[in-house]
Amino acid sequence: MDDFDTNFEKFIQASKLSIYNEQQFASKLSSYDSDNKQLKLEYPKEANKLNIRKTKLDKIASRRISTRLFKSLGINNKELGLLLSSLRAWNGLEHRAYPSAGASYSTEEYVVCFNVENHQQKILYYDPDSHAVIDTNLKAPKWQEAKENLNIEVEGIPGLMIILVSFYNRATEKYDERGGRFALLEAGAAMQQIALKIAESKTLKGVICGGIRDEYWINKLGLGNDKCIIAIGYLVGK
Ligand SMILES: Cc1cc2nc3c(=O)[nH]c(=O)nc-3n(C[C@H](O)[C@H](O)[C@H](O)COP(=O)(O)O)c2cc1C
Repeated sequence: MDDFDTNFEKFIQASKLSIYNEQQFASKLSSYDSDNKQLKLEYPKEANKLNIRKTKLDKIASRRISTRLFKSLGINNKELGLLLSSLRAWNGLEHRAYPSAGASYSTEEYVVCFNVENHQQKILYYDPDSHAVIDTNLKAPKWQEAKENLNIEVEGIPGLMIILVSFYNRATEKYDERGGRFALLEAGAAMQQIALKIAESKTLKGVICGGIRDEYWINKLGLGNDKCIIAIGYLVGK
């Protein structure tokens, strides 16, 4: 392991969430003054309005919103296929629905099923090449247990959680420490693909979950011995 890896891994270590620091994380959140946060920059010159012609993509993007209230209904096979097509390698493994620095594609995608047709309580790996799910033979926790390991307020039961896992080494091997940024950016691009697919869908809703107990979920996915981190969880339901 070289110095670059060590520094990125120090950052990973410092940003981990666990039972040991989640109280501290929660009090940081509650003491944050969200009424006075900066949401854009101001410049002295006047703003020049731009033309608007709402394209198909704009229509979908304008419908994107987080939902934290689920009807506890199951996700069917068709919906699962639609949702995961957002991550598909449409033009081969090096040309997917989202870009990647140097086509390193360091993000892997898992589906933790709480209520999914044909896949109850399963943890699935998504194969973006063949657009297929593979049963990992690992058991998904029941929603009640899952919720205890997520720092999020939701009502009802989502059908599933997509977990984006970053095998950041694929990027740092090529770009050294800067590859760490690239790996996280790539996971963000994958996350946005999911967000747009949900916005496009008539039945699906979802919310991103950043407050996720890293070690618990890495172990649930059977990746405890791998060099990887949880990038984000995405709760999806109806
Ligand atoms: C990286 C990231 C992490 C997030 N984590 C959480 C979370 O832990 N809990 C939550 O309720 N929402 C979470 N969100 C959703 C944001 O709160 C939400 O996107 C933001 O408030 C804007 O609202 P909107 O998505 O409805 O437009 C997260 C979003 C992002 C991009």
